[in-house]
Amino acid sequence: MTLREAIDARHSVRQYKDKPIEPEKIAALREKAAELNAQGGLHFQIVTDEPKAFSGPLAHYGHFTNVKNYIACVGKKGKDLGETIGYYGEYLVLFAQQLGLNTCWVALTASKRKAAAEIGKGEKMPLLIALGYGETNGHDRKTKTAAQVGGGEDQPDWYKAGIAAALKAPTATNQQKFLFSRNGDFVSVQPTGGFYSDVDLGIVKCHFELGAGKETFSWR
Ligand SMILES: Cc1cc2nc3c(=O)[nH]c(=O)nc-3n(C[C@H](O)[C@H](O)[C@H](O)COP(=O)(O)O)c2cc1C
Repeated sequence: MTLREAIDARHSVRQYKDKPIEPEKIAALREKAAELNAQGGLHFQIVTDEPKAFSGPLAHYGHFTNVKNYIACVGKKGKDLGETIGYYGEYLVLFAQQLGLNTCWVALTASKRKAAAEIGKGEKMPLLIALGYGETNGHDRKTKTAAQVGGGEDQPDWYKAGIAAALKAPTATNQQKFLFSRNGDFVSVQPTGGFYSDVDLGIVKCHFELGAGKETFSWR
């Protein structure tokens, strides 16, 4: 499965099977996390067989069941942390999808306090990503149109493909609060409000790059 195919296959999954992730897949995830940590200056950690963060009332309220594995999204405090976690974390999410695993970004409906993560001095952990074999592969959801987020029929194919991939990106409460614009081969995207919109922005940029092709354009 290519990363573009992983974008199409991915949906948030909140109910998991009681099936452990195979050691070779955990090793592959840790290797990918280490690679992305080096690129982004982050401290992603793959936590396995630790049900506590997803056992309390918050996880119950969020309809999570059987979450025993997750990615702890940790990094140095700073104004870019949310966007950086979103961007590199989504690469990890899509890699998990390639391994046949399901995921869900979680900002609020888990007990981050109970997460078995190492959070160093000067670091913070704004999110977790639930991980495992889903009861299902999730489902399609409502989406804005390309025109609502800065796309359009008169645009070049690479830009249309980027927007289509961006519309498949997970965003907090499916808010999709972002707006793209293009000037020649230069593309920019701005958040239009909403909570965790910095994380959303990083995720959306990851999807746009994969849809449009990284070499086709430059961010402005
Ligand atoms: C930054 C961020 C935070 C999120 N926080 C939560 C959360 O606390 N609880 C939850 O159940 N889902 C959470 N989600 C998942 C979104 O609800 C989900 O991505 C969105 O509804 C779109 O659905 P999809 O991922 O299937 O495309 C979050 C997603 C993002 C990107």
